Amino acid sequence: MSRVYLGIACSNHDSAVAVVDSEGRVVYAQATERSVQLKRALFMVPISKGIVHRALGPVLAPEDELVVAYSWALGGQIGRALDGWCLERDPRKLEPAAAAGAFLGMKLARDISYLELCQLLPAGRPAPEPLFLDHHLTHAYAACYASPYDEAVCAVIDGGGDEGSLAFYRFEGASLVRIDSARVGDPKPGSLGRFYAALCGAVGFDAALGEEWKVMGLAAYGRFDPELYSLLKPLASVSDLELESHASWEDEDAIWQQAKARYSKGSERGPLAFADLAHTGQVLFEDASAALLSNLRARGLSEHLVLTGGCALNSSWNGRLLARTGFRSLFVPSAPADDGNAVGAAWMAFQRDHPEFRPPGRALTAYLGDRLDGETLNRSREVSGLRLGNPEGVPVTRRAAELLAQGKIVGWVQGRAEFGPRALGNRSILADPRVANIKDVLNARVKFREEFRPFAPAILHEYGPEYFEDYQDSPYMERTLVLREGVQERIPGAIHVDGSGRLQSVTAERNPRFHELLAEFHRLTGVPLVINTSFNVMGKPILHSVEDALAVYVTSGIDALVIEDVVFEK
Ligand SMILES: [Fe+2]
Repeated sequence: MSRVYLGIACSNHDSAVAVVDSEGRVVYAQATERSVQLKRALFMVPISKGIVHRALGPVLAPEDELVVAYSWALGGQIGRALDGWCLERDPRKLEPAAAAGAFLGMKLARDISYLELCQLLPAGRPAPEPLFLDHHLTHAYAACYASPYDEAVCAVIDGGGDEGSLAFYRFEGASLVRIDSARVGDPKPGSLGRFYAALCGAVGFDAALGEEWKVMGLAAYGRFDPELYSLLKPLASVSDLELESHASWEDEDAIWQQAKARYSKGSERGPLAFADLAHTGQVLFEDASAALLSNLRARGLSEHLVLTGGCALNSSWNGRLLARTGFRSLFVPSAPADDGNAVGAAWMAFQRDHPEFRPPGRALTAYLGDRLDGETLNRSREVSGLRLGNPEGVPVTRRAAELLAQGKIVGWVQGRAEFGPRALGNRSILADPRVANIKDVLNARVKFREEFRPFAPAILHEYGPEYFEDYQDSPYMERTLVLREGVQERIPGAIHVDGSGRLQSVTAERNPRFHELLAEFHRLTGVPLVINTSFNVMGKPILHSVEDALAVYVTSGIDALVIEDVVFEK
């Protein structure tokens, strides 16, 4: 008998499940939003019977023991307090009550999934007693164990955890030891996650739907406003490893209202009227992050930084981080936000049982989600009536590259789904970066998103230094770098207004098929990169299944769709 570990990220947004097998390998990880196709899956429980079967089925033998671990400690305390109340009712009927608050949502997540799991386990087997683990520790375990380092310092920066919004750890071997701030006293804690969410709301977007991305895109159009900076500064003041807010809750609201009012005059211009606010807010976010991380670096504990928590999704800052903090290298996992904690909870639970375990010391793959259903794909090829495109004997990578080189928009769906918010060449829409107006074409035909948002390049890693200044490996599209002068005219479709690109570095080791496609495109065109944008339409998560892909293909202006080895062409 061995033990298998099910990690559950049970925040009220971005819930997810992950499985670590009896050898300590992450064999599955997936956010709820993908399978239900609802962005961020707000207040949705992460467990369904289908997910449990797909996640655990391949690794859980009848004689194995199952350990269930959750990504919040506080959720456990509150959950236990509510046990009597909940157990008298059918938890599934309580779901609307989850909207009352995150912690109740966690409690429900626990109960419902618990119930489902029990149904899955063979009769007579004792139900697993769940572990409730510290939120920031689960972030840190997920990120450090997934990193290529055997030692580093880890910074967790998010909206808030079981305690505060920041946590710093020294990672060595397999252990994580908390690094405390030297700051004494009891300041009102600040939160960079909360700050950025408020900024997102102030410029007119919805942080609940994860629209912080749009703030970064918009910031590139804005200019620095020193008066606004002074107004916002009290919200994010750094002292050693603490972030403080020097404003009361009421004053914080008033500050954001004032900030918004500065730009509301031009609001008929849409989001662009708020570009200076986005830009200046981004500058303050970066200044506060730089101060915290420089103070962390000054402790002299490591020159490697593992950055995680929702704020590690700020790719603009990630690209500039090394130059401003003195760290020599940076690792950001593929899912640094709360979905990633499913992996952290499972790994942490595994480590408790196996103190001798050492993490693999190489970056964890992002391709950990569901596989495509081969039977559905075969049936679609045979009976859908859609036109097929593969000429005999031509590999799909070459055919896709040919289509791209002709300026066609190609849906590219392969293998296991990515874990994390970015499409990394398994659920992607691809296009030719040489076409100057490709952004307009993509928006008009399939993406329908705001005009100011850029499309990002996926590049053959070996050509990175030729195209980007101070090139850094960016396997999960986690950093934005500046393109070199002279290459910009070669790839006008993949450059943001400020000359930057949020890149994915592609290697054969990480994704052989996507690498081969890029290599074919390079052979045909002399350009080693393509535009890679997530395969979705505005407001929806990245699509997931064969059916999802076919539905978007037939209802949009995508020219061709490649699923595994099958090419559909219009
Ligand atoms: Fe978090």
